[in-house]
Amino acid sequence: MEQKVVLITGCSTGIGLALAVRIAKDEKKRFMVYATMRNLKKSTALVEAAGRTLGRTLEIKELDVCDEKSIKRCVESLPERRVDILISNAGMGLIGPIECLSMEEMKTVMDTNFFGLVRLLKEVLPDMKRRKSGHIVVISSVMGIQGILFNDIYAASKFAVEGFCESLAVQALRFNLNISLIEPGPVLTEFESKVYDEGMKTDLSNADKITSDMFTNVYLKNWNQIFESLGQRAEDIAEHTLRIITMENPPFRHQTNTLYTPMTTLKYADPNGDLPIDIFYKMVFEHDKVFNASLNFLKMLRWRSRRSFSLEKGRVKA
Ligand SMILES: NC(=O)c1ccc[n+]([C@@H]2O[C@H](COP(=O)([O-])OP(=O)(O)OC[C@H]3O[C@@H](n4cnc5c(N)ncnc54)[C@H](OP(=O)(O)O)[C@@H]3O)[C@@H](O)[C@H]2O)c1
Repeated sequence: MEQKVVLITGCSTGIGLALAVRIAKDEKKRFMVYATMRNLKKSTALVEAAGRTLGRTLEIKELDVCDEKSIKRCVESLPERRVDILISNAGMGLIGPIECLSMEEMKTVMDTNFFGLVRLLKEVLPDMKRRKSGHIVVISSVMGIQGILFNDIYAASKFAVEGFCESLAVQALRFNLNISLIEPGPVLTEFESKVYDEGMKTDLSNADKITSDMFTNVYLKNWNQIFESLGQRAEDIAEHTLRIITMENPPFRHQTNTLYTPMTTLKYADPNGDLPIDIFYKMVFEHDKVFNASLNFLKMLRWRSRRSFSLEKGRVKA
């Protein structure tokens, strides 16, 4: 069976790294992975994790999604420019009240998360159309379907990604191409710490007292709790994505976190859009104690299930 060529962006850390390694280690060796990153000096972690797959089913290449020439150079370097599965993963977060963020910071997020995908497709899509085969997989987010407090710009970038893909999907069908949006909830990667640390450094002098208090004492205060209770591992997202790329009829949208699904379902339950906004408001400002208790409860459940899983495994081994 001919190996499928997979090109992944943003593989220096987190989900991209886990994806590259998981797909390259496919037991049936169905894939040749080109794991790309914008700065090759950051490749040590991937090289280590890739192990024996390096030079066999995995190669590392340079690609900056904000630079058309870099994308072209990378695609031109592939045998016959062939990409069977494109996984657009590179991305960045941004939190804070908009009055405290510079236009430059906001544009960088849009340029990376949204135009990064557009640039990639401008290079790869025409070849896929010509071959009448290909799968475009985009690591979106639950924030691509639902906005979250103080994630205005990040959510906007992921909404842009989703609208773009939804429009493109109809055209893609005509060429026998698939598009899939992977929508994780919180994932424990460097993303979490980078965004939090930047958030903590935000200069709030341009914000009024209510807003800065909301950001510091409500949003940032609950940050760790949310990631600890709901956060998945990068390897979980990789496993979900592997399942999607091996399906005969992959879905257009795939949410990876069942704990989060009730929240996103609210969006579809009310065409006016008031229900999720109302519930989020009440959860954060009126029932914050219940909200925190639920997160603690979830955290305990997950800890127990992980513990019993490892005990079970221990028993099997013994
Ligand atoms: N973590 C979460 O909670 C979460 C949840 C839902 C969706 N996601 C999405 O998942 C994707 C991966 O995030 P992650 O959690 O794995 O975060 P991460 O560990 O911070 O990884 C982000 C990756 O994107 C790369 N990147 C940033 N700008 C780039 C550019 N211009 N060109 C090429 N690569 C670039 C980074 O490279 P450098 O090392 O050079 O910066 C890094 O390799 C993102 O699209 C993110 O929006 C994350």
